[in-house]
Amino acid sequence: MSEPILSVKDLRKSFGGVRAVDGVSLDVQPRETVALIGPNGAGKTTFYNMISGRMKPTAGSVRFQDQDITGLPPHTISRLGISRSFQINNVFTELSARQNVEVALTALHRKHFSMFRPASRNRAIQEEADAVLERLGLRHLSDTRAGVLSYGDKRLLEIAIVLATRPSLVLLDEPTAGMTPEETRHVTQLIKSLAASGDYTFLITEHDMHVVFDLADRILVMHRGRRLAEGTPEEIKADPEVRQAYLGEEEVA
Ligand SMILES: Nc1ncnc2c1ncn2[C@@H]1O[C@H](COP(=O)(O)OP(=O)(O)OP(=O)(O)O)[C@@H](O)[C@H]1O
Ligand SMILES: [Mg+2]
Repeated sequence: MSEPILSVKDLRKSFGGVRAVDGVSLDVQPRETVALIGPNGAGKTTFYNMISGRMKPTAGSVRFQDQDITGLPPHTISRLGISRSFQINNVFTELSARQNVEVALTALHRKHFSMFRPASRNRAIQEEADAVLERLGLRHLSDTRAGVLSYGDKRLLEIAIVLATRPSLVLLDEPTAGMTPEETRHVTQLIKSLAASGDYTFLITEHDMHVVFDLADRILVMHRGRRLAEGTPEEIKADPEVRQAYLGEEEVA
């Protein structure tokens, strides 16, 4: 097995008396898709917040590509190659789809694009933005104001923003939440093909078990801040503790 791209050790976060994340460890291998599941309040988003630098851990460590990133600020962590989406829709509604992606590109790759002269720099950023929109099947909506996109397309745009900076680790927090079954199928297929391209490593939280079992190479089940189980989709489906604590019997049938 290769070196993990992400190695989380005994991570903890307390809010007053609430132990939101209570000693969770996880190794993620390059190009793997790992699903993080668990009931509401299990600590999934808090776990993400600590990996992406939004919250400082109370204890424990996070290593990414052989570097200790524990407690580093979010902009430093995103420059190192970790990009995340939020559970709640998070786009600039007054800007076009392309401009939304351009904002992300400009913020992160000012240095990269600084070798271009101003006129060609704008073109380079625009081309890069259109390329990522194309990849998500949103190219025809490049000039559409984000505020008028359908809910599903808005969430796709968020994924485009997350992928724009070519991160090596992508954290998606409930990418299909609130989507119609058709939108959910579309996004699941899309994430699958992005994962198959070998360009990304995904960590995904998701409540829809069909999506989880379809996408994940490996699943980490959290319950009340702790690790309840970890394994392949087959192992998780068969785990009696998981079935009892979390999965409805009918959902895994
Ligand atoms: N900023 C905060 N301040 C205080 N308590 C918090 C904060 N963020 C989360 N918590 C608490 O920590 C626990 C874990 O919350 P978290 O949002 O990480 O769960 P989750 O697994 O993402 O849940 P969901 O599936 O509902 O998104 C909950 O009890 C929550 O109320
Ligand atoms: Mg959450």
